[in-house]
Amino acid sequence: MADIDLAAEVHHAGGSYPVVAGWGLIDSLGDRFTDLGLTNTAYIISDSNVMNLYGRNVQRALQKRGIAAHCFIIPAGETSKSFDLAQAIYTWLAGLKAERGHTIVSVGGGVAGDLGGFVAATYLRGMAFVQVPTSMAAMVDASIGGKVAINLPEAKNLVGAFYQPKGVFADVQTLSTLGKRELSEGWAEAIKHGFILDASLVDVFEEHAEALMNVEPEISTDVIRRSMAIKADVVSQDERETLGIRIMLNYGHTIGHALESTTEYGTFFHGEGVSVGMMGAATMAHEMGLHSQDLVDRQRVILERFNLPTSAKGLNVDAILEGMSLDKKVQGGSKRWVMLEDVGRSVVRTDVPEELVERTVRGLAS
Ligand SMILES: NC(=O)c1ccc[n+]([C@@H]2O[C@H](COP(=O)([O-])OP(=O)(O)OC[C@H]3O[C@@H](n4cnc5c(N)ncnc54)[C@H](O)[C@@H]3O)[C@@H](O)[C@H]2O)c1
Repeated sequence: MADIDLAAEVHHAGGSYPVVAGWGLIDSLGDRFTDLGLTNTAYIISDSNVMNLYGRNVQRALQKRGIAAHCFIIPAGETSKSFDLAQAIYTWLAGLKAERGHTIVSVGGGVAGDLGGFVAATYLRGMAFVQVPTSMAAMVDASIGGKVAINLPEAKNLVGAFYQPKGVFADVQTLSTLGKRELSEGWAEAIKHGFILDASLVDVFEEHAEALMNVEPEISTDVIRRSMAIKADVVSQDERETLGIRIMLNYGHTIGHALESTTEYGTFFHGEGVSVGMMGAATMAHEMGLHSQDLVDRQRVILERFNLPTSAKGLNVDAILEGMSLDKKVQGGSKRWVMLEDVGRSVVRTDVPEELVERTVRGLAS
């Protein structure tokens, strides 16, 4: 029977895995695990917010189907993506005599996903791994594609691997407990997916902004599934980010990352930085003749309906420009900008004049 909750299947060098989203899906997670043959002991990694909200429900759902499940709680927040926490989990797994055929289950946002995935990739040279994302960023982005990592003091995500999960299972109902600002920034990533690859998804954001901000079940689940499918499709085509396809997902990220890092991750949430970055990229693309001013205006209106910032008034322009020069998307000395040619159609450009970049960033900050 067709799985109505299935958003996509990710294909990678070692096989494939389902990406699934449903309302209240956690209750039937035991069935999902047994369908995939994951009946051995599970080790749930979740943070201090999400464990009590959802991690215990995941544990109960697995136990209901006879799957033993242990829980490890990490402190909520980015600082948990550390060697110290990975080490603590290794010690815990060793104490419980975890085996290679057992399963690590990350329940939570991108932090639990990246850290749990890093442990799964490395303990016993690789354990089975399942993602149960509960934040928007984790659902439509971090849980799909197999990038797992921890941070070093020098930079984020410096140590990691490509390590694919056995499945991604998102319970969209969990989004109801996110704060309004967290919800908005999460929608930014999904809106970005529409602008780079799916014009009809942009129409949905335009028509249903209020329902999406209220996490109404049917429309929210539908949009999450579509957004997951876009990410799944991109990573299936370009598993290791070598073909220049996966980079499209970085629309808005060049300026966005610089905004986040130059404010020491204290002012802008990631999705908020992306939102401002999308406006910067669209402004430049319009000036370069890639698309109309209407597109720039349409993007602004949609982002604002989701309470997202479209400028960064008062920020230190020189620091942002400096932060952008350190960006990962610089290759062979030239910066690669993801830009739109139309709604739902994106390109990479390496010929954006520095003068235009500087003028645009000054415009965003004034
Ligand atoms: N691996 C990838 O491809 C990839 C992609 C994008 C981002 N990331 C990583 O993801 C992380 C950011 O993800 P994030 O924004 O989910 O961060 P996060 O995991 O820190 O979650 C944000 C906050 O939301 C809380 N939370 C999560 N789900 C909740 C829910 N349903 N209800 C209430 N509170 C909830 C968490 O406890 C946390 O306090 C970063 O470390 C980033 O590097 C990874």
